[in-house]
Amino acid sequence: MDTSAIGHSAQTPAISIDRIEKWFGTRDNPVHALAPTDLNVPEGELLVLLGPSGCGKTTLLRMIGGLLEPTSGTLSIEGQSLWRGGERHGEALAELGMVFQDANLFPWLTIEDNIALPLELKGVGRKERIARAHELIKLVGITGFEKRWPRELSGGMRQRAAIARALSYDPKILLMDEPFGALDAMTRDSMNLELQRIWMETRKTIVLVTHSISEAVFLADRIVLLSPRPGRIDTIIDVPMPRPRSLDVQAANEFQTVAKQLRHRLAEIS
Ligand SMILES: Nc1ncnc2c1ncn2[C@@H]1O[C@H](COP(=O)(O)OP(=O)(O)O)[C@@H](O)[C@H]1O
Ligand SMILES: [Mg+2]
Repeated sequence: MDTSAIGHSAQTPAISIDRIEKWFGTRDNPVHALAPTDLNVPEGELLVLLGPSGCGKTTLLRMIGGLLEPTSGTLSIEGQSLWRGGERHGEALAELGMVFQDANLFPWLTIEDNIALPLELKGVGRKERIARAHELIKLVGITGFEKRWPRELSGGMRQRAAIARALSYDPKILLMDEPFGALDAMTRDSMNLELQRIWMETRKTIVLVTHSISEAVFLADRIVLLSPRPGRIDTIIDVPMPRPRSLDVQAANEFQTVAKQLRHRLAEIS
């Protein structure tokens, strides 16, 4: 079969991961963070990486984001290799936006300037980048806070600004590492709803890391459960509940069934 045309077809996964592995530490004290792992993330999917603390979720996400070099394996973004045999190919990075547990906004920049900063670094003129920042401020629901300082916003609003900043140059893929982990439970619920809405409006490919089962089941199209260190894919679960999902979905049978399955499996492997 001629496979030469497959590389850049519409079916090319947004992210393809082939035998990616990570060791940290020294020869005397090696830490096996992630066992060789294979995973494909199709375009437009909202994939959740779930697992106990220390199982390698952040390690995997940072390798996908090009921030951390794998010990071995291959990783491609939109069909372009980012890591191959420990070597890095930088072009794919333009396709990635990242959000971490802390918003990491610059305290000396207003919200609009924080959100526009990646565009400024790319050389986009002020008028254009502020217009784009204002579109994103509307998208993430913090209209009215354009000229405020980060310290004037609540934790949830700062995370909204961080999401807007990550989207500023319109990356195809959004990587989120416990983005709502520092928020109180009610704010977290409302941020989960907001993220679902943003995802439905933008249809970005999202990989979100969490150790919350309910957050995973609420948000995910598909959940990848990682085992304790060295992390390896233990179970992959589809979450076919229709969208938009309301918070009431947590009481639904389908939700409870998936959450229970994950809870039991986590107890078995932990
Ligand atoms: N820079 C590092 N040096 C040594 N060990 C590390 C380093 N970063 C992470 N680890 C170890 O790798 C494992 C996986 O870490 P991490 O990916 O942060 O887990 P998670 O995000 O799932 O909590 C942990 O045991 C952690 O201590
Ligand atoms: Mg982590």
